Amino acid sequence: MRVLGIESSCDETAVAVYDQARGLLSHRLHSQVALHQAYGGVVPELASRDHVRRLLPLVREALAEARSDKASIDALAYTAGPGLIGALLVGEGFASALGMAWGKPALGIHHLEGHLLAPLLEPKPPAFPFLALLVSGGHTQLVDVAGLGRYQIIGETLDDAAGEAFDKTAKLLGLPYPGGAALASLAASGRSGEFIFPRPMLDRPGLDFSFSGLKTAALVALRGRDLRGAIRADVARGFEEAVVETLVEKCRRALKQTGHQRLVVAGGVGANRRLRERLATVLQGLNAELYFPRIEFCTDNGAMIALAGCLRLAAGMHASIGMSARANWELDAIGNSEP
Ligand code: KG4
Ligand code: ZN
Repeated sequence: MRVLGIESSCDETAVAVYDQARGLLSHRLHSQVALHQAYGGVVPELASRDHVRRLLPLVREALAEARSDKASIDALAYTAGPGLIGALLVGEGFASALGMAWGKPALGIHHLEGHLLAPLLEPKPPAFPFLALLVSGGHTQLVDVAGLGRYQIIGETLDDAAGEAFDKTAKLLGLPYPGGAALASLAASGRSGEFIFPRPMLDRPGLDFSFSGLKTAALVALRGRDLRGAIRADVARGFEEAVVETLVEKCRRALKQTGHQRLVVAGGVGANRRLRERLATVLQGLNAELYFPRIEFCTDNGAMIALAGCLRLAAGMHASIGMSARANWELDAIGNSEP
């Protein structure tokens, strides 16, 4: 079974070829960061138009690198949601048209399912069941993963996603969009303890998150200060520590609550080095195993979509063939219609 995966839910156009027996054969990505940077965030219409321009050349490149042609592709998989509706429609339309022309099925994939399966692309993949921490620009969720397509959200953010908080705070610090990685590198030169920001939601039970107050705390800390000195780095450090400690503590609680021995961390914020290090330390103490995708597969990519499509088809899960794109789509609403 060989699947061509297509991701176009936001500001990355990405394509990959995944083979059930041989693994990932190729992946190609075009980032739109430069296109949107002048606007300080993603402009949906520009994103859609750029996906239209980029998809076909990327598919050609990915097929060539995988030494594959249309005859060797068994199916297409595209991100059907959640995301920017125009951007999703480009991917859906493209995959469906190609599928029709090639006589192959085109399968809609949930973007977050792609993220949480991404560690399965690594040489030592996690076995089901596991706990997943999904931390991206749009979502922050703790998911109890019983198996493929069997997801229960047990905690989520009540306001901003972790990545969104990184991006908004980065903006306050004068860093370009998207600011998560830039804020993390600024934080590396900051002093720990200069600014101690609140750890949201740790003072009460439960597994939900809230990050919107943190950017306000950072704003207050910066207000009226001379930003030329070390203060920006110190605030970045304090902010990053607060987010990371909150995420780590909620993971610890969720592992305890579910009894899972494996934690998968996925989504763009999963690229954060401090988060990776802190989780590794804490999970060692709990005798639990930690799984990450490689850094480039933490953020949006086509490989995770091709993989999810391949796993679904191999498991006989065909219900999302020809699915329409949807901007809003809860992760635990998928897979239930499968046999
Ligand atoms: O998963 P992703 O590529 O897109 C969504 O599906 O949202 O995640 C993008 C998010 C952005 O908010 C970005 O700032 C954040 O991931 N991010 C990071 C780092 N690298 C990317 N946040 C913190 N530290 C990083 N190193
Ligand atoms: Zn994503």
